[in-house]
Amino acid sequence: MSTTPQWVMIGGEGPEMKNIIDAVEDKYRKGTGQNPEEDIEFQVLFNDFTNNGFNTLFQALPAGRRYYTAGVPGSFFGRVLPKQSFHIGVINYAFHFTSKIPKEITDRDSPLWNRDMHCTGFDEAVKKSYLDQYSADTTNLLDARAEELVPGGLMLLLGSGLRDGVKMSETAKGMVMDFIGASLNDLAQLHIYNFILNYTPLYFAEEGELRQIIKENGKFTIEAFEDIIHPYADAMRKAFELVEVKAREEFSRIQNSKPGMQYLIVLRKN
Ligand SMILES: C[S@@+](CC[C@H](N)C(=O)[O-])C[C@H]1O[C@@H](n2cnc3c(N)ncnc32)[C@H](O)[C@@H]1O
Repeated sequence: MSTTPQWVMIGGEGPEMKNIIDAVEDKYRKGTGQNPEEDIEFQVLFNDFTNNGFNTLFQALPAGRRYYTAGVPGSFFGRVLPKQSFHIGVINYAFHFTSKIPKEITDRDSPLWNRDMHCTGFDEAVKKSYLDQYSADTTNLLDARAEELVPGGLMLLLGSGLRDGVKMSETAKGMVMDFIGASLNDLAQLHIYNFILNYTPLYFAEEGELRQIIKENGKFTIEAFEDIIHPYADAMRKAFELVEVKAREEFSRIQNSKPGMQYLIVLRKN
């Protein structure tokens, strides 16, 4: 018996877990002519912050699943597992996070203080500050995973990004974020809600930026980089459509919005 640990980085049992196990079993069946169910055991390790509701996650796992599970608490920007301890890592809609809002944005004496980059009022200096933070954090993430993965192991990165040269504020999602942000700012003006410096630490990178960060890190080779339709995309699209209907009254520019990008990147450890 061999044990094949697989690591789903972030909580949430989605269809991708079953798909990955099916794909590994299929390859094993074709490669060896043997029955994988008799030969391979799977272990799925779920990672999230320590304050994540791991018990809720475990209770939601499907009955009759074909894998053993465990929680791995801790920030994925550092090491959370022993060296060479897993074979496939999956980061599902979490590769866009940074560890913090860039310091230039939080420093009251900085000209970039309290500036957001995702929405209208786009500014190159603000974007650079977010990109620098994202590059540093993502490099740490790749370094940590490269230590934890077995040689030749795979990382599957699913997430939201931008096509080269497209600003977040030009996509429908960015316009909706603008709309929600403007509403919160109105509340802040009325002292109902303190919105200042309440941004989520994230950065939706362009394809070229993602490729460059991975290349400069040097620990992985990009096996595939695809613009995909994610299984969740339909539900997300419906949610955005609902908001769009409301927003359209105020934002006629949504009609001319540019497409965003849902990516699947497959990295092989060098
Ligand atoms: C958008 S959710 C995606 C959850 C899940 N992968 C899914 O597809 O349903 C992002 C998750 O990333 C987690 N997260 C963000 N930054 C993290 C970090 N530095 N370390 C570990 N987890 C993190 C958040 O706590 C949150 O649960």
